[in-house]
Amino acid sequence: MERERTLIIVKPDAVQRGLTGEIIKRFEQRGLRIIGMKFMQVSRELAEKHYDVHRERPFFKALVDYITSSPVVVMALDGTNAVQAARNTIGATRPSESAAGTIRGDFGLEIGRNLVHGSDSPENGQKEVALWFDESELVDWGRVVDPWLYE
Ligand code: RTP
Ligand code: MG
Repeated sequence: MERERTLIIVKPDAVQRGLTGEIIKRFEQRGLRIIGMKFMQVSRELAEKHYDVHRERPFFKALVDYITSSPVVVMALDGTNAVQAARNTIGATRPSESAAGTIRGDFGLEIGRNLVHGSDSPENGQKEVALWFDESELVDWGRVVDPWLYE
């Protein structure tokens, strides 16, 4: 099975609402392994790079304003099919349409306040982890539960 990396951002609204622990917990209990994590204020330069694919979209400025409005927690996770697994835990982009039981479906209502980011492909997972973390900030470690998560 494919081991992948994914970048998760606990967005400003989630941090302000005190949902950081709740959100980290969901990825942790899913079995995804944290290999990097930090609390930071995002610069406009980094936000614009991260959201470069949306540069021409009408919501681009609002998106950069949102992600830079207050601190975030950013995490690098790895695991089997980590990208799709994390996106399923996050839920559909529009929280009003996200399934109950997902982060957005349990805590959100509007697309511009959708709590969390997850990479959308294994290639982007690699790229985004490299954009947000220096290799020296990533930790390769083993968990005693790994044999109970991986066949
Ligand atoms: P994300 O990148 O944050 O994990 O979200 P996503 O893949 O589910 O959605 P994506 O299409 O990549 O959009 C990135 C973020 O842009 C905001 N957005 N606003 N007003 C709008 O129509 C609109 N569309 C997208 C959301 O914050 C979305 O998460
Ligand atoms: Mg996306």
